[in-house]
Amino acid sequence: MSGSAKRSVTITLDGTNKSSQLPLVEGTIGPAVADIRRIYGDLGIFTYDPGYGATAACESKITYIDGDAGVLLYRGYPIEQLAEHSTFLEVAYLLMNGDLPKPAELRGFEMGVLRHTMLHEQIRQFYNGFRRDAHPMAVMCGVVGALSAFYHDSLDINNPEHRRISAFRLIAKMPTIAAWAHKYNSGQPFMYPRNDLGYAENFLHMFNAVPTEPYKVNPILAKAMDLIMILHADHEQNASTSTVRLSGSTGANPFACIAAGIASLWGPAHGGANEAVLKMLAEIGHVRNIPEFLSEVKDKGSHTKLMGFGHRVYKNYDPRAKIIQKACHDVLGELGIKDDPLLDLAMELEKIALNDKYFVDRKLYPNVDFYSGIILKAMGFPTSMFTALFAVSRTVGWISQWSEMIEDPEQRIGRPRQVYTGPTQRDYVPPGRR
Ligand code: CMC
Repeated sequence: MSGSAKRSVTITLDGTNKSSQLPLVEGTIGPAVADIRRIYGDLGIFTYDPGYGATAACESKITYIDGDAGVLLYRGYPIEQLAEHSTFLEVAYLLMNGDLPKPAELRGFEMGVLRHTMLHEQIRQFYNGFRRDAHPMAVMCGVVGALSAFYHDSLDINNPEHRRISAFRLIAKMPTIAAWAHKYNSGQPFMYPRNDLGYAENFLHMFNAVPTEPYKVNPILAKAMDLIMILHADHEQNASTSTVRLSGSTGANPFACIAAGIASLWGPAHGGANEAVLKMLAEIGHVRNIPEFLSEVKDKGSHTKLMGFGHRVYKNYDPRAKIIQKACHDVLGELGIKDDPLLDLAMELEKIALNDKYFVDRKLYPNVDFYSGIILKAMGFPTSMFTALFAVSRTVGWISQWSEMIEDPEQRIGRPRQVYTGPTQRDYVPPGRR
């Protein structure tokens, strides 16, 4: 690890004279971490941290979150500044390379992405194997995993040029894969990417256009799409990113690793929450039903959650939720949607929850998914596409984190231990004597 250890923490094993002095490693910001690697050798014990709430699994220079203060930085830049001034591809360059690009560097990067937007023609056939009503996330898991069967020329993870080309391929092809998942659902012809369009614009073109008539991308929607992509681009060691890193730690190829990340993102506790929020709002139906719904949420036996609320790291307002809430108002206004009952319901639900002791005591605030579904719905996306859009945007974060891991000299196969509480050793009993 690059941080120097000036302090340490000493753990003593009760009832013995054994102790372990663990170096405390400081990052540039954030809490120090105790390097526990020697604890088993010194004391013969492991550490226990289900859900990894207190475990730093890697060193990273990409994204920083201060959950108490509600701060999110990509490579040191506050998300608010990037959301206001940057573009998704500039943010992608930043996440992948560490610094903002000079104009010529950005142009080169954009060209690199654009050159890879098409899918191998045979992948078109691959879609036909799915049922027409397949969820876009199911299609994405399958098609992204299958990319490794089509791009054999870039699968050597120890070759930096192969890693670079795979990264471009993944970032470039993901919008095409997601848009085609929707086209397959709706029975419309697949639209090929257009390399004269920007990244978000191109996605909207492939998603909305049909071959029979010209389609002009609405600049309001393209700007909103680009913003949504910036907000979802990376988020430190969340479940899907950790899945990508863990898969990658075995030496698996990047297409397989990103497919694993997509599968992990799909769950309603993670990226699937945006879809779940809209389902929840539809079920609540009216402001007058909010108190009854919140009573159900507070009843532990019900297993009902207020979707779009709460976060493992943020114990304050998710900064992305603030930006997306404002964008919701702006986009609805610009689209001429005067009153959106869903937005009104969401805002009232947020207001009531933020003043409710249950949520206040547990520091539960809206997260990015609380408002993203509302804006995506206003932009014309079906709910089944919400998490797929999250996956398109997060691919750049996944691939940046994967590359960082491959280049980390301390990287080893991810292999957690356990507290075994099953039976102790016993002898096999033949069937007739059980
Ligand atoms: N509604 C009701 N209660 C909640 C919620 C919620 N949304 N979130 C947490 N709690 C309660 C939880 O039951 C627990 O209560 P108690 O202390 O009485 O047992 C307490 O708050 C602490 O929660 P936790 O389960 O220990 O929190 P966690 O860090 O394990 O889980 C979470 C984080 C995001 C999975 C959870 O808050 C949740 O399920 N939220 C709803 C789903 C959601 O919006 N997910 C999107 C997360 S942000 C985007 C992304 O990651 O993709």
